[in-house]
Amino acid sequence: MNKPELYYVKTYGCQMNVHESEKIAAILRGFGYEETANIQDASIIVFNTCAIRDSAEQKIYGNIGAVKKLKQQNPNLIFAVCGCMTQMQGRADIIKQKYPHVNIVFGTHNLSQFKDYLLNYKTNGKNIYEVWENEKEISEDVEAYRTSKHNAWVNIMYGCNNFCTYCIVPFVRGRERSRDSKEIIEEVKTLVSQGYKYITLLGQNVNSYGNDKKGKDLTFAQLLNALSELEGDFKIKFMTSHPKDINSDVIDVIAKYPKISKAIHLPIQSGSNKILKSMNRGYTKEHYLAKLEEIKAKIPNVYISTDIIVGFPGETEEDFIETLNLVKQVQYDGLFGFMYSPRTGTIAESMDNQIDKDIKNQRVNKLLTLSKKIIKDKVKQMLNQVIEVIVDDITFINGSKFYVATTDTGRSVLIKDAKELPVGEFIEVKITEITGAKLIAEIL
Ligand code: 5AD
Ligand code: SF4
Repeated sequence: MNKPELYYVKTYGCQMNVHESEKIAAILRGFGYEETANIQDASIIVFNTCAIRDSAEQKIYGNIGAVKKLKQQNPNLIFAVCGCMTQMQGRADIIKQKYPHVNIVFGTHNLSQFKDYLLNYKTNGKNIYEVWENEKEISEDVEAYRTSKHNAWVNIMYGCNNFCTYCIVPFVRGRERSRDSKEIIEEVKTLVSQGYKYITLLGQNVNSYGNDKKGKDLTFAQLLNALSELEGDFKIKFMTSHPKDINSDVIDVIAKYPKISKAIHLPIQSGSNKILKSMNRGYTKEHYLAKLEEIKAKIPNVYISTDIIVGFPGETEEDFIETLNLVKQVQYDGLFGFMYSPRTGTIAESMDNQIDKDIKNQRVNKLLTLSKKIIKDKVKQMLNQVIEVIVDDITFINGSKFYVATTDTGRSVLIKDAKELPVGEFIEVKITEITGAKLIAEIL
């Protein structure tokens, strides 16, 4: 038998892209390709790109350039580039002009056409550059080849209507489109029956799920409710929540069902009302804190994480100190800090008072140092807590056997002195030791 040809898909960016790469992988497998983790062995390479910050973009151009060598070694190699970066204005032209060794370029809106593009390219060998300017109806016919172990990603909606002034997402992902709740519920039922333990609902702003259906379908709270009522041993996660849209109905349903993970990612972006306004976030620091109060009151031991941008145009030292103070006040369990990066076509790109790179750098370092210290202290508070984890694997450390397990929030836990544990199942453990970032637990 001939050896199958291999594919290599490189994903940049967020979970939305991770899941879309699973759809790309399914299309490739339909052509008979199999996966390789080694780019040199691939007959087809796909880069699924990100556009959120310029640093991502520059890295991608560098990596696209590096594939030229592989193409010289193997002229039959097929190279496709897709995703948010190619969807950005002018980027497909840059690739066409500067990197002719890229054979297929498509955007986020025409992923479902990849199969046809590949077929065309294989037939006539001509490079294809096709980026649809606008989003189309949701296409339900692209399956996913799932790769993330116990977790299955499920899109509930696409696009974003918010136009935060720094953000490229509404430009590259189009307006909000919610999937039919029936389709989502059926998909989740199937995934649970296949044994997935985590179902992670994906959307740029999950709290506005259903808004585009104008009352003809479920709201996000109702969708969570319906999914939590499904039979089976699984947990529901979701991302991302917008602080202006998360409401009491959603908070109540999270509090009600043990099936819903008690981890909420609630990006604040800045602790200064002046900057929040200029970012067009649609809430003040006070509104945000009030929502958080409600969440904390209704959901004991809730895990809150956030995103923060430093060095947004016009951000003074005082504004930045307000952000630091807010972080101290909230005591986030997880924090992603970013330096503001101007994106073509966004409002913030042409704002006055752009901040110096060095200042952004200093601020992000300060922010991350603070958050690391807070997180370290918060992890210490986990000592003696009983938590639910999913069992991943067995490992040996200095000759002793441990099970490796993962918490809802992605933290790794080592379980000691356990004889036999069910890999891939939930169990409850007690945290008995914390050394640095390592959590050691015992079974109950
Ligand atoms: N510059 C820096 N960070 C950004 N983000 C979005 N756009 C930009 C930008 N232009 C951050 C936000 C968002 C996260 C996914 O990326 O914090 O929540
Ligand atoms: Fe970007 Fe704002 Fe939409 Fe999030 S809510 S994707 S930050 S525009």
